[in-house]
Amino acid sequence: MTVRIVVIGVGYLGITHAACMAELGHEVLGVDVDEAKIEQLREGTVPLYEPGLSRMLRRHLAEGRLRFTTSYADAAEFGDVHFLCVGTPQRDGSDSADLSFVEAAVHALAAELTGPALVVGKCTVPVGTAARLARTVRRSAPGADLAWNPEFLREGRAVDDTLKPDRLVFGAESRAALDLLHAVYSLPIAAGTPVISTNFATAELVKAAANAFLATKVSFINAMAEICEATGADVVELARALGYDGRIGHRYLRPGLGFGGGCLPKDIRAFRARAQELGAHRTLEFLREVDAINLRRRHRLVRLAAEQCGGLGGRRVAVLGASFKPESDDVRDSPALYVAAAVQGEGAQVTVYDPKAIANARRHSPGLRYAGSARAAAAGADLVLHLTEWKEFQEIDPAELSPVVGMRAIVDGRNALDPLRWRAAGWTYRALGRP
Ligand code: UGA
Repeated sequence: MTVRIVVIGVGYLGITHAACMAELGHEVLGVDVDEAKIEQLREGTVPLYEPGLSRMLRRHLAEGRLRFTTSYADAAEFGDVHFLCVGTPQRDGSDSADLSFVEAAVHALAAELTGPALVVGKCTVPVGTAARLARTVRRSAPGADLAWNPEFLREGRAVDDTLKPDRLVFGAESRAALDLLHAVYSLPIAAGTPVISTNFATAELVKAAANAFLATKVSFINAMAEICEATGADVVELARALGYDGRIGHRYLRPGLGFGGGCLPKDIRAFRARAQELGAHRTLEFLREVDAINLRRRHRLVRLAAEQCGGLGGRRVAVLGASFKPESDDVRDSPALYVAAAVQGEGAQVTVYDPKAIANARRHSPGLRYAGSARAAAAGADLVLHLTEWKEFQEIDPAELSPVVGMRAIVDGRNALDPLRWRAAGWTYRALGRP
């Protein structure tokens, strides 16, 4: 069954969701108040790097299944289902989430709705938000209802995560809402995707809890890295051995510079802040420590760099990687850029290279220097810092890099390079959590 779908907010989540809904065969209209972005998308330009997304979007634009508008009136008239995909950033000066974009979107849409429609929240919100928004929708638009369907996509794998999700979570208060969600996702469901139908609060919590768990797992192994540093143990071997226990698993157990990006850091802070508001004062306090362990890795890397150079003042440092993880050009809360700025703050001259994120990095950190290749960044360097594990960096031949650097020294912030290979080529190789 083809459903007429509106996607509100064309950021990372919205563009991916709109293109993937068209891919499932639905008719899709993307809406956003940002006219420049809507114009770009109409022309088939995706303003971010996500493997496979541009091609899919252009195909559906050309076939007329996907369109974009800035008009909520058009959206209200067109859609049976309206997905809310606007951002919920961290509020300035606090740990809690800023819901002003979600609230503005719901009010703008509800004011235009005249007949039956289902508004579906996808963004990450504090538990309790869906119930409040449902009251707003039902009050201002009789005939309309709300459901909550959290999104679990990862940047860099967003298309696959949307089309072949691990599970679908539907928070709803009516049979009609559930039936419509089943119709929207009928293809993934037919392919065996498990569906959890539940109430609003549970649906919202699945998302907050999933991100909190993933962040905790990363910080757990990074806490073990601190113990390894204090004892001479090797955290990479430790993680490998731990992960073979099927109850633990290898995923999200990669030790290194820790998590960044637009989701995990802000989501664990907002979750803890929400628990406080709910009177569960101590329940999520451990997330404060998860956050602290994560940030300590960045400082440890700066110290390792300083130790390696005998002080950073006047040193030339090459930084490989700017995005918060590979296969993404997103530099929001990027551990790599944080370290680059801190190293420069201690008096070094830092040159950064990233395969996809240079333009965003320049806007975010205009005070750093940038180069067009790893080799150019490393020219004359006293130290190379490997901070985002792009495949391209794993393929570097250390022997080929040797003639361009000033000193053959590398700190691997992601434990993704092969120490034997670098040492065999005469390099000093150091890493987080390894002897
Ligand atoms: C994360 C979640 O994984 C998604 O399920 C969720 O939908 C999304 O947030 C969101 O809330 O929208 P994402 O931010 O794209 O997705 O990034 P991840 O792939 O989860 O990586 C987060 C960070 O953890 C990266 O900086 C990565 O380098 C780091 N990481 C990850 C580690 O340091 N070690 C690991 O073992 C895994």
